[in-house]
Amino acid sequence: MTTVDHAVDRAVLPAPRGPLSAAVVDALRGDPPAAGLPEPGSADPYGEDLQLALHVCYELHYQGFAGVSDDWEWDPALLAFRSGLERVFLDALRADVPGGADLEGVLDELLVEPVDGVGVSHFLKDEGEWWHVREYFALRSIYHHKEADPHAWVIPRLRGTAKAALVAVEFDEFGGGRGDRMHSRLFADLLVGAGLDDGYLRYLDHAPAVMLATVNLMSLCGLHRSLRGSLVGHFAAAEITTAPSATRMAKALERLDAHPDCVEFFTEHIEADAVHEQVMRRDVIGDLLAREPELTESVVFGVQATELLEQRLGDHLLTAWREGQTALRLPL
Ligand SMILES: [Fe+2]
Ligand SMILES: [Fe+2]
Repeated sequence: MTTVDHAVDRAVLPAPRGPLSAAVVDALRGDPPAAGLPEPGSADPYGEDLQLALHVCYELHYQGFAGVSDDWEWDPALLAFRSGLERVFLDALRADVPGGADLEGVLDELLVEPVDGVGVSHFLKDEGEWWHVREYFALRSIYHHKEADPHAWVIPRLRGTAKAALVAVEFDEFGGGRGDRMHSRLFADLLVGAGLDDGYLRYLDHAPAVMLATVNLMSLCGLHRSLRGSLVGHFAAAEITTAPSATRMAKALERLDAHPDCVEFFTEHIEADAVHEQVMRRDVIGDLLAREPELTESVVFGVQATELLEQRLGDHLLTAWREGQTALRLPL
């Protein structure tokens, strides 16, 4: 398919899911809350309200929302509010991952396939039905509409080979100079192929916190220079795990006789990510840690936090689907 973006297609502000997300959505709509933006207090770090509020704050650094002034991006009160949310999220992640400095061990572990083969792509390959696949696409669109964007923020924070190699991977993610080959565009074509809406963040209200958290982690690490090691760790973890899962997804889609554009997104990633994995490990992480060995624990944290959130998302999907229930907040 050769659909091309012509117009700027902006997301609409989502429906709030609690006091934090209501406060930020109201503020962006132009109704400043009388008492200013609230503190996160005892909000659940992984809960619907906090994750949506954080996602809305971060979106101002990407494409923004329809009808919302671009100037909100650097509004000091909004940044202070976001910082409170980030602290809660980051503290929870740090408490919930094992940590340490055994980077090789942590990366090697990503390559070990679970013996019992449980995981979303295993499920979809072996027993997935078309409605599962469409739910999966709608959920993942929250990230893939901005595929590789949060990783671009780390570029000015790197030097030498680490920078050059990461840019080489990003060049592929952004289509090697071709708008119609950008991975975000390939995913939009996949959505159309599956009869879904390819509008930017059109499924935000459908996506539970467990999905938003995976994207919020990338934005968090991308926007903070202090987390540059974690951003690189995140990127490496994603590249290492993609090729095997993309292989299973391509099989699932062929079995279900899906539109070729749906299969194409995954076949593109099978070969590309096998190369990206090597580049990320050897040239990006290798060179970064040769220059800044004190970032080792930060890279490990990025890998582990990615895995933790992906595991939570996978558990959510499989639990819902095994009960014959939708994994989304709204039906498609
Ligand atoms: Fe990609
Ligand atoms: Fe990749």
